[in-house]
Amino acid sequence: MSDLAHFDVAGKRVFLRCDLNVPLKDGVIKDDGRIKASLPTIQALLAKGALIVIAAHLGRPKGEAKPELSLAPVAKRLGELLGQEIIFPAQVVGDVVTAAVEVLKPGQILLLENIRFSAAETSKEESERAEFAAQLAKLADAYVGDGFGAVHRKHASVFDLPKLLPHVAGTLVAAEVEVLKKLTQNPERPYGVILGGAKVSDKLGVIENLLGKVDVLAIGGGMVFTFLKAQGKEIGTSLVELEMLDVVEGLIESARENGVKLILPTDIVVASSFSADATPTLVSADEIPADQMGLDIGPESAKAFAIEIEKCKTVFWNGPMGVFEFANFSAGTKTVATALTKVSGISVVGGGDSAAAVRALGFADSEFGYISTGGGASLEYLEGKELPGLQALGL
Ligand code: 3PG
Repeated sequence: MSDLAHFDVAGKRVFLRCDLNVPLKDGVIKDDGRIKASLPTIQALLAKGALIVIAAHLGRPKGEAKPELSLAPVAKRLGELLGQEIIFPAQVVGDVVTAAVEVLKPGQILLLENIRFSAAETSKEESERAEFAAQLAKLADAYVGDGFGAVHRKHASVFDLPKLLPHVAGTLVAAEVEVLKKLTQNPERPYGVILGGAKVSDKLGVIENLLGKVDVLAIGGGMVFTFLKAQGKEIGTSLVELEMLDVVEGLIESARENGVKLILPTDIVVASSFSADATPTLVSADEIPADQMGLDIGPESAKAFAIEIEKCKTVFWNGPMGVFEFANFSAGTKTVATALTKVSGISVVGGGDSAAAVRALGFADSEFGYISTGGGASLEYLEGKELPGLQALGL
């Protein structure tokens, strides 16, 4: 199989699909991890003398050109990090882009506007996507797929376009796949997974799949209250998915049958409202007051999670343990992150949000074994699903 190192692109126009979907607030990039993670492939292509046309998405504009989801701030940051001008025609496809690509020179980089401003990118209609992909194919001689965070999407620039051009995976996609293979093919044991985040329904597939594979499964975050409720506990006004209660009961049973140590919090930090200045109170997970909501796992639980994590030789973590954005409710996530930094085997932080969380809490990337850039993508990989963007690259 061909790889980037052996891909001859000297003097050629390369269409590079990246995942530059960074968190933005009022036009300011809050975490540039995904931009930085895209640099090695861009630099490798520059060193080969390629002309680079980068495509990426930002948010979910649903086919509409929404100014707040423009890639302009990303173009600026990418230029700063590379120390060179990024040509930004502010268009996805059209006359301006075509003209700019025509005069592109080796070593120059052009970033297309948010590819999802075009409805065809995410269309469910194969023909619409194919037509759009054919338009994109005219912009380049070769394709490099490096947007790992989007490889689970059957989108035109991820799935259809590589079929039309000589293609290869970028170094980020190759590295992500190599790490995820270590988690799915013979992981060193004990193997522990910590899952957080708001909804069980988002993580159901991965939990079902992991119950046959892991030794320890620790659950925190908003979704834990559906587990506590399924155990018959009072959860006050905490987040809950009532329609998932039966399913969750089945998961608890399945953990027992598979000999998986399922760890749920025993104490919870609660408050009367979802706000940064709400007063935090620590209660037992058996005694959440009816008028309070759980916003973090408590210190006893976080310690219990940490003890189990540190014993593991393989650890995957996705999803914060609480509302880490609010200082009063960030301790659980911090304790779990600290435990991950102490794992002697392989520790993987999965997901754009989880990665942003550990950076926001002051951790350096180098403290973890690997920080994946893909949230949904890494979860779907662990679920055992075939990912369209990897399939298209022959991975
Ligand atoms: C992500 O943020 O996980 C990726 O960029 C994919 O984004 P999406 O969930 O909007 O497809």
